[in-house]
Amino acid sequence: MPSVNDIRTHFLDYFQKKDHAIVASAPLVPQNDPTLLFVNAGMVPFKNYFTGAETPPFPRAASSQKSVRAGGKHNDLDNVGYTARHHTFFEMLGNFSFGDYFKERAIELAWELLTKEFALPVDKLLVTVYAEDDEAHGLWKRIAGLPDEKIIRIATADNFWSMGDTGPCGPCSEIFYDHGEHIPGGPPGSPDEDGDRFVEIWNLVFMQFEQQATGDRINLPKPSIDTGMGLERIAAVLQGVHDNYDIDLFRTIIAASRDLVGGTGGASNGPSHRVIADHLRSSSFLIADGVTPSNEGRGYVLRRIMRRAMRHAHLLGAADPLMHRLAPTLIAEMGEAYPELRRAEAAIVDTLRQEEERFRRTLGRGMSLLDEATAGLAEGEVLSGETAFKLYDTYGFPLDLTQDAVRAKGLTVDLEGFDAAMTRQRELAREAWTGSGQVAAAGEWFAIRDRLGPTEFLGYDHVEATGELLALVEGGREIDAALAGASVQAVFDRTPFYAESGGQAGDQGEAEWPMEGGKLGRARVADVQKQAGDLFVHELEILEGVLKPGARVRLAVDAQRRAQTRANHSATHLLHAALRNVLGPHVSQKGQMVDGERIRFDFSHGAPVTPEEIDRIEAEVNAVVRQNLPAETELMAPKDAMAAGAMALFGEKYGETVRVLTLGQSLAGDGAYSVELCGGTHVARTGDIALFKVVQEQGVAAGVRRIEALTGESARRWLLDQAAVSKGLADQFKVPVAEVPVRVAALEAQRRQLEKELGEAKRQLAMGGGSGGGALAGPEEIGGVQVLARVMEGVGGKDLRPIAEEFKKQLPDGVIALVGSAEGKAAVTVAVTGSAQARFNAVELAKAAVAAMGGQGAGGRPDFAQGGAPDGAKAADGLAAVRAALAGEG
Ligand code: ALA
Repeated sequence: MPSVNDIRTHFLDYFQKKDHAIVASAPLVPQNDPTLLFVNAGMVPFKNYFTGAETPPFPRAASSQKSVRAGGKHNDLDNVGYTARHHTFFEMLGNFSFGDYFKERAIELAWELLTKEFALPVDKLLVTVYAEDDEAHGLWKRIAGLPDEKIIRIATADNFWSMGDTGPCGPCSEIFYDHGEHIPGGPPGSPDEDGDRFVEIWNLVFMQFEQQATGDRINLPKPSIDTGMGLERIAAVLQGVHDNYDIDLFRTIIAASRDLVGGTGGASNGPSHRVIADHLRSSSFLIADGVTPSNEGRGYVLRRIMRRAMRHAHLLGAADPLMHRLAPTLIAEMGEAYPELRRAEAAIVDTLRQEEERFRRTLGRGMSLLDEATAGLAEGEVLSGETAFKLYDTYGFPLDLTQDAVRAKGLTVDLEGFDAAMTRQRELAREAWTGSGQVAAAGEWFAIRDRLGPTEFLGYDHVEATGELLALVEGGREIDAALAGASVQAVFDRTPFYAESGGQAGDQGEAEWPMEGGKLGRARVADVQKQAGDLFVHELEILEGVLKPGARVRLAVDAQRRAQTRANHSATHLLHAALRNVLGPHVSQKGQMVDGERIRFDFSHGAPVTPEEIDRIEAEVNAVVRQNLPAETELMAPKDAMAAGAMALFGEKYGETVRVLTLGQSLAGDGAYSVELCGGTHVARTGDIALFKVVQEQGVAAGVRRIEALTGESARRWLLDQAAVSKGLADQFKVPVAEVPVRVAALEAQRRQLEKELGEAKRQLAMGGGSGGGALAGPEEIGGVQVLARVMEGVGGKDLRPIAEEFKKQLPDGVIALVGSAEGKAAVTVAVTGSAQARFNAVELAKAAVAAMGGQGAGGRPDFAQGGAPDGAKAADGLAAVRAALAGEG
C-alpha cells in the first residue's frame, strides 16, 4: 500500500518524465499577493505567469503545494471534523501549463496517471464539465472512452474556478471517484451530491480569463492549465479507505493524540481527533512559515485554528496542554518532504505550548458559562449573541469556536446579536474616552477630522512649506490662542512633516509665523502623530509670540534628521529583502521602528541569526547600497502593485492608491532587489544610505527575532567606537591590534593558573595557623574536647572544606570549627571527629555560628556541616558562638 510520501513522489516523478519542471512548494503566506490570506491552491505561486505579468522560466511545471483554506474565499474550517474529506491544511498536487498545452493534453495526462500509473479501475471514475464546454465533453469521450452518463454537465460555479475575487479563472472539469454503494451520497449535480460516496479527486482548470477588480473579465494572453488534486483524497483512494482521516499519515497522528490524551480518549473517528490532527498540521505549517498567533489578520486565523483544536483536546479530557506534544510526530511524518518543519521545530513547539497554556486559563470557565447558557436550549434553538460575545471578549473564544462547540447540541449562534454586541462595545469604548482628560482628545479628533478633512502631506518632495493653522488643541480641548511656554497640538491644512506611521517616527523641526509689528512667532515641533486616520497632529512647544488659528505658518523639518530617517527606512527595506534571501522566504516582518538614529526590525525566524548569516546580510545590503541606483516610487492602484510583485505588509491598510518603492537590482541581475508597498520617506539613491551595519540581534518572542542596525554617519561612528576600544586595548598591552585576542587569551590562562596557586597558598597558610584573626597554633580544650577553632580571613566557603579535611587528619577525635571571611561574606565549616561525635552535632554547631553572624541556617551531616552569613566582619562572633556552645555542653 503506497504511503502518502510514496504517492507524492510518484506524482512528481510522473510529471517530471512528462517534461514538467518540478517546483518546490511556496510558503503559505503569499509572497506577492496581499489580496490573499494564505496560499489556497497550487496555482497561486504561478499567478503572474498565467496573467502574463511575468515570463515563466519554464512552459510546464508540477508541484505539491502546501495550502490552507481557512478564511477568505476558500474556507473549509467549519467542515473539518465532520466530513471524511475536509481539511484546513492540505497538499495540492498539480500540473501546470503556461500557454503550452491546453484541454486535450491536460485530460490525456490526468487519465494516464490515474488509470495506468495509479491503476484505478475505470468504472469507478466519472467526470464533470462546465455545461457549455462541448469541447471538454468531446475530449473525455474520445480520450477516456467514457459514456455520456459519466460525463456530467454542471452549469453552476462548481465548474468555474477562480482563485479569489480577482485573478486568473476559467471553466473546469472535475474527476470523481465512486467509493461505492455502501456509502451514502449521489453523483455530482444530483440532490444528494454532498454525501461522501462520490469524491472529487482532481480538478482540471482550463485557465482562460482574468477577473479584474473592476468586474470585467478579460481573456488571458494564452490559455493555460492549472490542476489540483488533494493528496489526502487520492491517498484515501489508493490506500483503499474511504475516509481521508484513515490514511497512514492521519492514523499516526491520531494514534499519538489518543496515547497522550489517555483514558478512553474519545473515538478515533470522532470529530475531536480529526480536528486536532487537521489543526495541528495547519498550525504547525503556518508557524513554520512565520505566522504567529495574534488578534488580527493572519495571526487571528492561526489563533482561531489553534484554539478550536485546544477546545477539542479539553473536551477529550486532556489534562495538560496537548498540541505541542504532538508536533514531533507530525514533524517525523512530514519533515522530510517539508524541511521547514524541522528548522522551525522549536518555534512550533513553543508557540503551541504558550498559546495552549494561555487559553487554558480561561477555557474551563468559558466552557462552564457556555454549558449554563445552553442548558435550557433544545435542539434547533439559538444561543444569544450576547453570550457568544462575552465568550469572545472575556474568555478568548473565537466566534467559530463557539459555533463549533454548540453544534454538537444542534444549536446555532445569533450572529446579528453578536455583531450588535461588538458594535455596542466599540461605542462604549469611544464614549469612555470623552471626559477622561488627555485621552478625551482621541474622541475629539474624529470630530475635528470630520470638520477639517485630511491633512495634505507634502513631505515626499519638500522639507519646508507654509501651511495654514486650522486647529489648536490643548489638554483635549480646542483653544483660540497659545502663548509662549505652552505645549499644544496643531493641525494645518498641509505640512511637510511626516506623522508617525508604518514604523517610521514622526518628524521634528521648527515653525515660524509672522505677527503684528513685523515680529516672528516661533515654536519647536517635537513630534507628529496621526489621529483619526489622516489628521497630522503636530506637537508644538511655543518659544516666542502668540499662535492663533488662521496663522500662516512656515513649517521646516529638521532636514538632517529626516535624511538619516530616510536612509534608515530604505535600509530597512534592503534588510528585509536580504533576510529573505539569506534565511529563507519564511521571514516576514513583524514590526519595525526607524527614526533619525537607528533601525529596529522584528521578523519571524525560528533560530538566532548566526554571525556568518549576519555577515552575508550586511554584505548584500551594502552591495545594493553601492549600486547607487535611483529609488523608484510609483503611485498605483493596489492590484497593479500586486501585479508588479510588490511585497505588501500584512495588517497595513492600503487606500485607493498605494506607493510602491523599488530599490536596487537583484544581485543575480534578474529584476529589482526590493519592491514593497510603503508610505514612508526614502532616499533618492541607494548610495545615500552610505553604510549599513547590524549592531545587535536578539529574540523578542517565540519565533520572532529583532535586528538593530545603523546607517551612514551613525554606522561610521559605531565602527569608530569599536575601533577605538581595540586601539585602547592594543596600546595598553603594547601589541598591534591584531594580536590583542592572543594576548587576552594568554592573560586569561595566566589568571586561572594564579588563582589555583593562590588557593593552594591560602590553604597552606591556614593550615600553618599563620592567618590573621588570632587563630591558635594548635588545638585547645573546651568542655573536655579537643577543639581547633579558627577565623580565616580571605578564605571563602568553598576553600574551607579542603582545609577542614586536612585538619581532620590531625585531630581524629575532636571538633574543628573554621569561620572564613571573603568578599565581605562569612562562611563556616564544622567537622566533628571520633568519639566527640557522641556529644556534638556539626550541623547544630554550624547553625549557632551562622545565627551569631546574622545569617540563616546551615546544612550537612552530623559529622560535617557548612553555612554562610552576609557579614564577613562578624566572623569572630561566629567562632565565639561555637566555643560557647561547646562549653555549655561540657
Ligand atoms: N486551482 C484549482 C483548485 O484549487 C485546481 O481546485
